Amino acid sequence: MSSADANAISRLEVELGARSYPIYIGRGLLADSELLGKYVDAASAFVVSNETVAPLYLDQLVKTAGLDPARSVVLADGEQYKNIASMQKIFDAMIAGQCDRGTTILALGGGVVGDMAGFAAACYQRGVRFVQFPTTLLAQVDSSVGGKTGVNHPLGKNMIGAFHQPGAVFIDTNTLDTLADREYRAGIAEVIKYGFIRDREFLQWLHENMARLLARDPDALRHAIMRSCACKAAVVADDETENGVRAILNFGHTFGHAIESATAYSALLHGEAVGLGMLMALDFCKRCGLIDAHDFESSRQLIEAAGLPVLLPHTVSSGKQLLRLMQHDKKVKRGRVRLVLLKSLGEAFITGEYSDELLEELLESYVSQV
Ligand code: NAD
Ligand code: GLY
Repeated sequence: MSSADANAISRLEVELGARSYPIYIGRGLLADSELLGKYVDAASAFVVSNETVAPLYLDQLVKTAGLDPARSVVLADGEQYKNIASMQKIFDAMIAGQCDRGTTILALGGGVVGDMAGFAAACYQRGVRFVQFPTTLLAQVDSSVGGKTGVNHPLGKNMIGAFHQPGAVFIDTNTLDTLADREYRAGIAEVIKYGFIRDREFLQWLHENMARLLARDPDALRHAIMRSCACKAAVVADDETENGVRAILNFGHTFGHAIESATAYSALLHGEAVGLGMLMALDFCKRCGLIDAHDFESSRQLIEAAGLPVLLPHTVSSGKQLLRLMQHDKKVKRGRVRLVLLKSLGEAFITGEYSDELLEELLESYVSQV
């Protein structure tokens, strides 16, 4: 793709019958009043954002879509605010703003804002429309697509929520210009995930283009977002409510969520924990004889090249602690943790059949490296 194309607008479709919707990807979409006008009715829109993103992009969205700036709520920033108290704030503001069943919620922010705005849309007056404007790489390649919405409970992440698909997703890659490097790299973990689970050719492309991606080269970035969203859209179209194949999108997450929980969500960003979780899952695949040492080593190098952590934080005290936390995974069936593993690079499957001893050995080996 030439850099001239980098300014074009691309469109993908999430094919879900009556609930199908487009994903637009391009630079400067937040300034495209003609395109936004097709999906956003100014009179009925209500914006949900946070205290970091709103000062950067809310004015622009208000101006482009001709919105009433008073019809918005700005939440505190952080995963710790992804809770029922923030939902209450959204509902309070919507009721005060006289939102009705014709309201469209516009989610302007990263995955935390998107998940909460989407959940508010699923609940408000039993369900209103919403449109995603994701502003982190992680949200652009993962959380804004597929309709998983919700909040955390003190005893578990994303425990309260609903499947509620957006009416459209607008990925303005210009918003990434203000995103911190660490957050950007955390998003790359989810990009790499698609290569591991479903797209070996893309994995090769990532090996060859990681430096360009890290440098935020516009062409490389657009390609990575397109390929990731295409992969996510295809999996969601096959299994919208995760009765089967959609679980492969959680590759590395069972390990990652346990690490996040063991460190009280304070040591690693979600994407970083997923990167480390994928490394551990790949290592487990090697120990189970599913992938060979060469494929494991090249995968480890890719995760490291993305600038993602490959060692557990110091505060993880034991493999048993991680194992116990893995039992809280939403993929547990009849008490057995099911893991997403790879048959080969680019081909994931989910299974509860593996050796517990090998899993314990793997976890202890990572704890002992700390
Ligand atoms: P986040 O929403 O907390 O954003 C990360 C940080 O970047 C925040 O401080 C945010 O305010 C800031 N930020 C956002 N956009 C910015 C911009 N353009 N410029 C500067 N700063 C910006 O975190 P995230 O990584 O986007 O999302 C993580 C959340 O997504 C988690 O809660 C996770 O559970 C959820 N998630 C959901 C799904 C899903 O399918 N629904 C998938 C993956 C992750
Ligand atoms: N991020 C996992 C999913 O959307 O299913």
